[in-house]
Amino acid sequence: MTDLSDLQASFEHAFGSRPTFVVRAPGRVNLIGEHTDYNDGFVFPAAIDYDVRIAGRPRDDGEVRLWSALFGRRARFMLGSGRRSRRGGWSNYVRGVGVILASEGYPLRGMDAVVTGTVPLSSGLSSSAALEVASCLAYEVAGDFSIEPKRRALLCQRAEREYVGVQCGIMDQFISSLGRADHALMIDTRSLDYRPVPLPSSGVSIVIGNTNKPRGLVDSAYNERRAQCEEGVALLQDALPGIRALRDVAPSDLERHAAELDPVVLRRCRHVVLENERVLDSVRALEAGDLDRFGLLMNESHDSLRDDYEVSCAELDAMVEAARGVEGVYGSRMTGAGFGGCTVSLVADSAVEEFQSAVGAEYRRRTGREATFYVCRASAGAERLL
Ligand code: GLA
Repeated sequence: MTDLSDLQASFEHAFGSRPTFVVRAPGRVNLIGEHTDYNDGFVFPAAIDYDVRIAGRPRDDGEVRLWSALFGRRARFMLGSGRRSRRGGWSNYVRGVGVILASEGYPLRGMDAVVTGTVPLSSGLSSSAALEVASCLAYEVAGDFSIEPKRRALLCQRAEREYVGVQCGIMDQFISSLGRADHALMIDTRSLDYRPVPLPSSGVSIVIGNTNKPRGLVDSAYNERRAQCEEGVALLQDALPGIRALRDVAPSDLERHAAELDPVVLRRCRHVVLENERVLDSVRALEAGDLDRFGLLMNESHDSLRDDYEVSCAELDAMVEAARGVEGVYGSRMTGAGFGGCTVSLVADSAVEEFQSAVGAEYRRRTGREATFYVCRASAGAERLL
């Protein structure tokens, strides 16, 4: 239910009046640059035309009353109360953002709000970042203040880290807040400088394939990978005193000091160091119109995530392999944190239909699961619609 009038009607039904505002924030697909953002590295995501929408109306009593049109559930809390709800998983994102904004002194007001969305859940397309960023914008509109988009992304990231407990990087909240229609953003996650890069307007499509394997154990494995990267940096710092993060390590440096690292930590570091190179390389390739090269780098990224970083899974591998067997596919890889979720493929427009039927059938044959495909357009970042 994304139609504005449906959302307004849903608000009226839940709260008995008209909403005074509607905001949206998109999910994302990362084209390349996976597990690099918490290593101060480079990422290359696009916001997608699947989003979270919040219709709201300010209240004067400091209470937030929520209705999730997706889950058919209510939640309510007082601003300033940091308590997490055990039952209302989705509402914790809205609470968490409120807690962070309050701690920063923003003049929050309570609100009635209907939350809905089209970002597939638990599928690695950042529905939670979209909910955080949409919540932040809803608080801004309700409280009549505004936050600069980069700062909004950082505050939402803090909510995820401090309130939800995932030690995530900045990519998801950043692209949801700053995405640009028809562009991917090359983001330097250390400086937060970014460059919008136009996506080809015709000839090729970005096709997301959902394995419909919910991401399992992702939070603990994610935090573990992060710790392994930090361990690598700590060990390498003896030999390379100037480094602060894996971002600062050149592939040749890593090879030279490989023997000083535990073999698992070495593989984790190798993925990150080479993935950073691949992002820079792939941006150059896209800007030069070299889709073959771009696709090759996507393939290398997946293989590295599978073998060195070990965050893929049988379903993602099966889908990627099936995709690579289709004529007209430039490249295919898992996208997002991994352990289930989605793949992203660059596919010639003329092959998109064949892609969906061939990959769907092969994926079903190999895993017994049904795939879902989304041919997506890069969309704008968070915005007020009403
Ligand atoms: C999740 C995190 C991001 C990023 C990706 C992996 O989506 O939220 O910060 O680390 O995983 O690239």
